[in-house]
Amino acid sequence: MPALELGRQRDRAAILGLFVTTALVVAVDSACDAPPRFPSAELQERYKGTTIFAYKSIVQYVCRPGYTRDVNVGDSLTCGRGNKWYGPEEICIPKQCTYPGEPANGRLILPEKFSFGSAVNFTCNTGYRLVGNPQIWCVVKNGVVMWDRDIPICEAIPCSPPPEIANGQHNGAGKELFEYGASVTYTCNTVKRGEKPFSLVGDASIFCTTTDNVNGVWSKPAPKCKVVNCEQPSVENGQLLSRYRAEYVYGDTVVFDCNFRYTLNSSDASTCSENGLWDPPLPHCLLSSCGDPPDVHNAVKAKLAGNLFPVGTVITYECWEGHQFSPGEDTWHITCLPDFTWTETPHSCERIRCPDPAIRNGKPLGVPESQEHYEYGDILEVTCNDGYAFKGRSRNVMLQCTSDGSWNPAVPECFPEPRCPRPDTAHGKEVYQSKKDYTVGTQLRLECDTGYVLRGQDMTECQADATWAPPLPFCDKVCGPPPQISNGQHSGLGKEQFSYGTEVTYSCAEGLSLIGDATMYCTSDDGVNLAWSGRAPECRVVRCPRPMVERGRMTPQRFTFPYGAVVRFSCDEGFALHGDAESRCLADSTWHPPLPSCQPVQCFQPSRQEDLVIYRLKLWYNVNETLGYFCKRDGHQTSSSETTCSVNGTWVPPPTCKKRDTCEKILRNREAFQCGIPLAELKTLLEVQKLYLEIQKLEKELRTTAYG
Ligand SMILES: *[C@@H]1O[C@H](CO)[C@@H](O)[C@H](O)[C@H]1NC(C)=O
Ligand SMILES: *[C@@H]1O[C@H](CO)[C@@H](O)[C@H](O)[C@H]1NC(C)=O
Ligand SMILES: *[C@@H]1O[C@H](CO)[C@@H](O)[C@H](O)[C@H]1NC(C)=O
Ligand SMILES: *[C@@H]1O[C@H](CO)[C@@H](O)[C@H](O)[C@H]1NC(C)=O
Repeated sequence: MPALELGRQRDRAAILGLFVTTALVVAVDSACDAPPRFPSAELQERYKGTTIFAYKSIVQYVCRPGYTRDVNVGDSLTCGRGNKWYGPEEICIPKQCTYPGEPANGRLILPEKFSFGSAVNFTCNTGYRLVGNPQIWCVVKNGVVMWDRDIPICEAIPCSPPPEIANGQHNGAGKELFEYGASVTYTCNTVKRGEKPFSLVGDASIFCTTTDNVNGVWSKPAPKCKVVNCEQPSVENGQLLSRYRAEYVYGDTVVFDCNFRYTLNSSDASTCSENGLWDPPLPHCLLSSCGDPPDVHNAVKAKLAGNLFPVGTVITYECWEGHQFSPGEDTWHITCLPDFTWTETPHSCERIRCPDPAIRNGKPLGVPESQEHYEYGDILEVTCNDGYAFKGRSRNVMLQCTSDGSWNPAVPECFPEPRCPRPDTAHGKEVYQSKKDYTVGTQLRLECDTGYVLRGQDMTECQADATWAPPLPFCDKVCGPPPQISNGQHSGLGKEQFSYGTEVTYSCAEGLSLIGDATMYCTSDDGVNLAWSGRAPECRVVRCPRPMVERGRMTPQRFTFPYGAVVRFSCDEGFALHGDAESRCLADSTWHPPLPSCQPVQCFQPSRQEDLVIYRLKLWYNVNETLGYFCKRDGHQTSSSETTCSVNGTWVPPPTCKKRDTCEKILRNREAFQCGIPLAELKTLLEVQKLYLEIQKLEKELRTTAYG
C-alpha cells in the first residue's frame, strides 16, 4: 500500500482542484501534488513554492533542528503511480541528551529515553526535601540538544528545637539542628526528700518527622512533669491482687479479683492516669451467681456441677425412690433469676401412696386404727377369712407398697379352702392348733391322756389334698415307772411312761450283786392292762465261802466268789467226784448244789451176769484189786480169768461171758419154773433182778451227766 495514502487524502480538496485545472494539460497519472510534511524533516529549500510535481519526480528532505538522519532510510520521496508519493515514513530521528546524573539523597525517576523533547523528573529520599525544579527537559539551544536547566538538590528536612517543659528537660539541649529522624528524651527533675515526686506524663521520647515531606514536626507533644496521685483503690466484694502501695502515682497499675460468686464487670486492671484518676475506672465486683440451692426434704439435687450458679442455671430436684412432689411428679426445676434469686423451690417430697388393698373374703392384719393410708415401703400382711385361702394355699401374704404406688405382689384373691378331717384320737387331745378350722396348712399338736403314750408324730399338718401328714398318731396304754430298788437303779430312770414292750435293765452299785432278773418288760397278761414282767431284782452283798474240795481241783481258778459265780470241780487221779461237778454261788451266800467231795475210786462188783461166777464176791473193790472169775456153760466151767479195778473205777478187762441167744434165755426161764421154786419166790427174784437192772441204768445215767 502506498505509504502516503493518508497525506494524499488529507489534501484531497487541493489535489482535486489541481486535477481539474491540469486535466487538459497532462495525462491522468502523470503528476503529484505537494509532497507530505514531516515533524522531524522539511523539504529542501529548492522545492518550496512548487505545487505540481511530474510523474517520477524526486524530492529530498533535510532534518529539522534537534533531529538527525536515520541512517537506515533514504532522504527522498518519489512521485509514483496513482499520483502518490513513495518513500520512507520518517526520514529523521530525535537527537539524545546526555545522562543528567542524580542528586545526593535523591534519585532520577527513570524515563524511557533522554531524547530531544522529553523530560525527566527527580525525587528526594524520605526525610529530604527537593530544592529547585523537579523536572528538566531535553531542548535545542544554539542548535545543540541539552537539558534546559540544572538538576535539583535534596536537603534534609529540619525540625524546630524540641519544646522546653516545666519541671523537666530533654537531652538535646546542646544541639542546634534537629533533622528528620532525630529524637530527644525528656526526664523530670528530681525533688527533695519529702516532696512529692514528679511523674513524666506522656512519652518520654519524641522524634523529628514530617507529614508533608517538606517541613519537619515533632512526633508528639512533649511529655509533662506533674505531681500525679490516684486515690487508694478499693473494690467492694473483691480484693487487690497487685502489690499494695501507700501511694499510687501516675502509671501504677492495680489488679483486682472478686470474692466467690462475684465477677468484675470491666477490666481487672486499672492504671493511674495523668489526671489522677484510675483508667479505666476501678471495676466493680457484681454478684454473678445464685446462692446454694436450698435442700429439699427427701429429694436430691441432680447433676449439680460446681458451686457457681449464673443466671439461667437450672437445678433439678429428684425425689428419692418412692417419693414424689405431687402425683406423677418426682422432679422439680429451679432457675437462677437475673436478680440472682432462685425460682420457687419445692416443698418436700412425700412418700408415694398405695391404694387400700380391698380383699374379698380377706383382710389386712395388724393394721392400727389410726392407719389412714399406705405409703411406699409399707409392708402389709393380708390374710383370708376363715375357710378361705390364697391361691397356693397360703393363708397369709406379705404385700409391699412399691415405689410406683402399687402393691407387690399384686393384691391376691381369697378362695374357699379345703379342710382336713377333725382328728378323733381316743385318749388323746389337741394341745395346739395353728388354725381352728382344719384348713390346709393347719398344724396340730396332739397329746395323750395320762397313762397313754403317743404313737406316731405329735405334730401334723393339713396337706393340700386335705389329708394329715404325717398321719394322725394314736394313744397307747403305758406302764408306770418300774419299781425302785435299794442300792441299784434301772435304765428307765427319769421317764414316767413306758410303752408296751419297753425293756428296762437294773444294775447294782459296785460290789453288790444283782439278785433276780436284771431286765423287765412292759407287757400285758390280759391284752388290755399293761404291767411290768416279774419282780424287780435285789442288790445285795453276796460272798460265798471259798469252795474247798479235798483231793480235788477247781476251774476256772478264781479268788472272789460273788453271787452267780460258777465253779467246776475235778478230782485228782484215783479219786472220783461225789456230788455235782459244778456249783453256783447263791443269793444266801451258799453254794448250790452243795460242794462235791473226792472219794477214792472203787469198783462196784461186776454186774451180775448169767453164767458168770466170781470168787470172793464183795460189793466194792479198791483200785488195783484183782478179781478172779469163770463162766459156766452147759454145766461145765471155763478156765478162770482175772479182771482188775482201774483208776477210773472200771473193771479191766471187763468180766463177761459169752451171751446165750434169746431163745436160750427164755428156755432158762422155763428151767427156773421147772426148778420147783415156788412162783411167789420167783416173782420176788425177778423183781430184785429188775431193780438191780434199774439201779445199774441209773448209775450209768448219773455218770454220763457228771462227766458229760
Ligand atoms: C514528570 O512530572 C510531570 C509533572 O509533574 C508529569 O506529568 C510527568 O509524567 C513526569 N514524568 C515522569 C517520567 O515521571
Ligand atoms: C460496673 O458496675 C457499676 C455498678 O453497677 C456501674 O456503675 C458501672 O458503670 C459498671 N461498669 C461497666 C463497665 O459496666
Ligand atoms: C496200782 O498199781 C500201780 C502199778 O503197780 C501203782 O502204780 C499204783 O500206785 C497202785 N495204786 C494204788 C491205789 O495202790
Ligand atoms: C478206765 O481206764 C482204762 C485203763 O486205765 C481205760 O482203758 C478205760 O477207757 C477207762 N474208762 C473210762 C470210762 O475212763
